[in-house]
Amino acid sequence: MKIKYGMVGGDLSAFIGEVHRKAIGFVDDTELVSGCFSEDLKKNTHTAGYYHICKERTYQNYQLMATKEGQRDDKIDFVVIATPNFLHYEIAKAFINEGINVVCEKPLCFTVEEAKELKKLSEEKNILFAVTYTYSGYSMVKYAKELIKDNKIGDILNVYAEYPQDWLISAVSKEASPANLSIWRLNPEVSGITNAVGDIGTHIEYTVKYITGLKLKRVQAKLNRFGHQLDLNANMLVEYENGVNGTYWCSQVALGHPNGFKIRVYGTNGSISWFQETPDYIMYSSVDGITSKLIRGADYVYGNSKVLNKTPKGHPEGYHEAFANIYKTYINTLRKIKNNEELLESDYDFPSVSDGLEGVEFIHAVVKSDKNDSIWVNIKETE
Ligand SMILES: NC(=O)c1ccc[n+]([C@@H]2O[C@H](COP(=O)([O-])OP(=O)(O)OC[C@H]3O[C@@H](n4cnc5c(N)ncnc54)[C@H](O)[C@@H]3O)[C@@H](O)[C@H]2O)c1
Repeated sequence: MKIKYGMVGGDLSAFIGEVHRKAIGFVDDTELVSGCFSEDLKKNTHTAGYYHICKERTYQNYQLMATKEGQRDDKIDFVVIATPNFLHYEIAKAFINEGINVVCEKPLCFTVEEAKELKKLSEEKNILFAVTYTYSGYSMVKYAKELIKDNKIGDILNVYAEYPQDWLISAVSKEASPANLSIWRLNPEVSGITNAVGDIGTHIEYTVKYITGLKLKRVQAKLNRFGHQLDLNANMLVEYENGVNGTYWCSQVALGHPNGFKIRVYGTNGSISWFQETPDYIMYSSVDGITSKLIRGADYVYGNSKVLNKTPKGHPEGYHEAFANIYKTYINTLRKIKNNEELLESDYDFPSVSDGLEGVEFIHAVVKSDKNDSIWVNIKETE
């Protein structure tokens, strides 16, 4: 059964929209049939033309797209939202109200209230809602989750997770203005109350939760803005509901780290670490002192990690495949729902609207802590 989708944002000059389209292209029998790819008419028409979208389904704005698609008998099965953050809430709501399933970029929206509303509305309207926390799509991240679930590292004692980048280093010097299109991230009207924490800190928050199953209880944070309105660096101490603590660090001014997302989890019987720049591997150390380099695609790998493999081991899989793994599961589930087939727990192995809500709660707790001399702030009491 063909699954048809539309897209808001993600014109050909944008970053993440094209990644979504390439990733969906990994999934059989899918087609991009409608879109409002940019607020800029020229860019919108150009992108629509490139993807052979008919004129009737190339929309000038997302409101028109939601209404018109909602009225069609052959309306899109889902919409992808790949715009800057400030638009996520309004766009998601418009499509939910038309009964159209949503895949939305992170962070889900600006406020906890908005996030709760999106969750409630999507439940009321039976919307399958995914939030693209990319890194949970990596095959070896899934394997790390399996190993921890199967008690291979014992009880978790500590977590250390860092996401350093360096692309905004020129913003530290006030005279220099970074020559990068994504600079909207430093504008609170477009980005929200955080920059680095919302952009990459939320990836840490979700991916650690995904791998370990630990639930965040409270956070202590110190942000650095280097003369800007929003943060470029954040150091965070977290405590989980079971009393275990962890350390998170995200930065866009850490020279030498293009995209150095790394997670280390330490337990009573072993430890696991995963590094996104070598994503096909995890390092596993056991209590007897042996450290093993485990590789994606090996015979010993099991669970969804095995199911979602695309290429034999040693042929690197990366960012697009991780996105594709999220889409493979999401679209497969959509097909099952359309066919009235029974759903299994593994069908929901993608980040949900509830996960998006928890990301927004995390952002607000971090900012509240920073504003109050880095006091502990409970995640669930931020708005
Ligand atoms: N999951 C990830 O790993 C990941 C990575 C990068 C970005 N993102 C998220 O993706 C989103 C987009 O980021 P980006 O880096 O691609 O930004 P970008 O600036 O490169 O692209 C934004 C796109 O949105 C379009 N747009 C803006 N206003 C619009 C409107 N009113 N109607 C239709 N289109 C509109 C722009 O024309 C552009 O095509 C952000 O929320 C960001 O946090 C996620």
